[in-house]
Amino acid sequence: MKKISIAIDGPASSGKSTVAKILAKKLGYIYCDTGAMYRALTYLAITKNIDFEDEKALVDLCLEHRISFEQTEKEQLVFIDRAQVTEAIRQPDVTNAVSIVAKHGAVRAKMVELQQMIGRAGGVVMDGRDIGTAVLPDAEVKIFLVASVIERAQRRYKENQEKGISTDFETLKKEIEQRDYLDSTRKVSPLKQAVDAVKIDTTGMGIEEVVKAIEEIISTKN
Ligand code: C5P
Repeated sequence: MKKISIAIDGPASSGKSTVAKILAKKLGYIYCDTGAMYRALTYLAITKNIDFEDEKALVDLCLEHRISFEQTEKEQLVFIDRAQVTEAIRQPDVTNAVSIVAKHGAVRAKMVELQQMIGRAGGVVMDGRDIGTAVLPDAEVKIFLVASVIERAQRRYKENQEKGISTDFETLKKEIEQRDYLDSTRKVSPLKQAVDAVKIDTTGMGIEEVVKAIEEIISTKN
């Protein structure tokens, strides 16, 4: 079967990465979590005391350091140079700053360059905010995943609990709303459904159900 590109976009905690990982494994495709790349850069900026508004300094960080992934049987590990930052980039300090770092055009240009290199050969499931609109505009399958903000906050709350991160539900909900607002109103490549993307509202749907719905869409492309 021909190797295609699958773009999965949507707001925070809409289930993109869970679904993308399962699909990539089933298809034997590469999985690329583009949010992890913006998170890694934000983590770097925090550790190096770089102002989130300093676009030039953020681009310099991209040039000076290498963000990479390693796929294990269990999970996708994220590295900055040789340091593993998989857990560190999911902490609230990074989550609450990442949308500021990700709004800069020059930062996005660097990230998109890397993402397009990863996706060049096809056989990729890539998730993010601008994959269908900017990173892989020719992807054969484009999905836009949405869910109610209450359900998304509940999912994130449960995930955090399992990871031992304590959070207040209302705060979490506000943070998700704020991140969606910043991501969808920024000037460069805002979070937006591509005209040729299929929208799936996952509110009340189980993961397997969502995966199945996307598999059906994929089967029409082969
Ligand atoms: O997907 P995740 O929630 O980990 O993404 C973290 C943040 O990275 C998003 O809120 C957004 O600001 C940024 N992002 C982006 N473009 C992408 C992926 C993520 O701007 N393609």
